[in-house]
Amino acid sequence: MIQLSKGFFISLEGGEGAGKSTQNKRIIDWLAGQGLEVVETREPGGTIVSEQIRQVLLDTRNAGLGATAELLLMFAARSQLVQEVILPALADGKVIVCDRFTDASYAYQGGGRQLGAETVEVVEKLVLKGLRPDLTLLFDIPVEQGMKRVAGRGEADRFEVESLRFFERVRDAYLERATADPQRFRVIDASLDEDQVWQQVRHILQEKLGL
Ligand SMILES: Nc1ncnc2c1ncn2[C@@H]1O[C@H](COP(=O)(O)OP(=O)(O)OP(=O)(O)O)[C@@H](O)[C@H]1O
Ligand SMILES: [Mg+2]
Repeated sequence: MIQLSKGFFISLEGGEGAGKSTQNKRIIDWLAGQGLEVVETREPGGTIVSEQIRQVLLDTRNAGLGATAELLLMFAARSQLVQEVILPALADGKVIVCDRFTDASYAYQGGGRQLGAETVEVVEKLVLKGLRPDLTLLFDIPVEQGMKRVAGRGEADRFEVESLRFFERVRDAYLERATADPQRFRVIDASLDEDQVWQQVRHILQEKLGL
């Protein structure tokens, strides 16, 4: 096993059907194949408490949940995940791969729900105290193409029932964050086929981890 001195934190971001979960599997397998110790997790969720909060957030019966309450629940789940999973894994020198993280709050609550980046930033500072991923892979895909991929996946959750305009705002907010922080972000053309997307991801991982 290769032991990193400080761990490495990777987040996967992007809209519905961009292929995050699909590429996540390949990333985990490939990193493990390189001899790295990998921890896989997701948001909202990843701990018992955070998964319970996830249920509240995704439940379509909670149509009346306000945008600010949604933001705070996201960060409550995130806080627990950071404390229980992410910080310990980083301290142990592991690679952590998280399916969505704080940038998703900028995209969905800041952009989609129109709370604005400034509001999200206030909560981020309070909860995360500067903790950010070392690398954020943004799987970018035209909204309608992503939606087509997930159509017929069964019942839509509380986010999936949102309008095209909502998801356009989510996409724009993600791209804006990527442009503002090119050091941390890598934008991946997720509209291509699975293998072509993976080639992009693998090159970035090799570059960033020096493998
Ligand atoms: N590059 C690709 N080309 C075509 N179809 C793909 C590609 N990547 C994934 N898919 C398919 O699209 C669907 C959505 O993929 P996936 O679940 O990985 O997306 P996701 O980004 O995790 O979505 P969500 O945000 O809803 O969790 C799946 O049926 C998957 O098999
Ligand atoms: Mg997914």
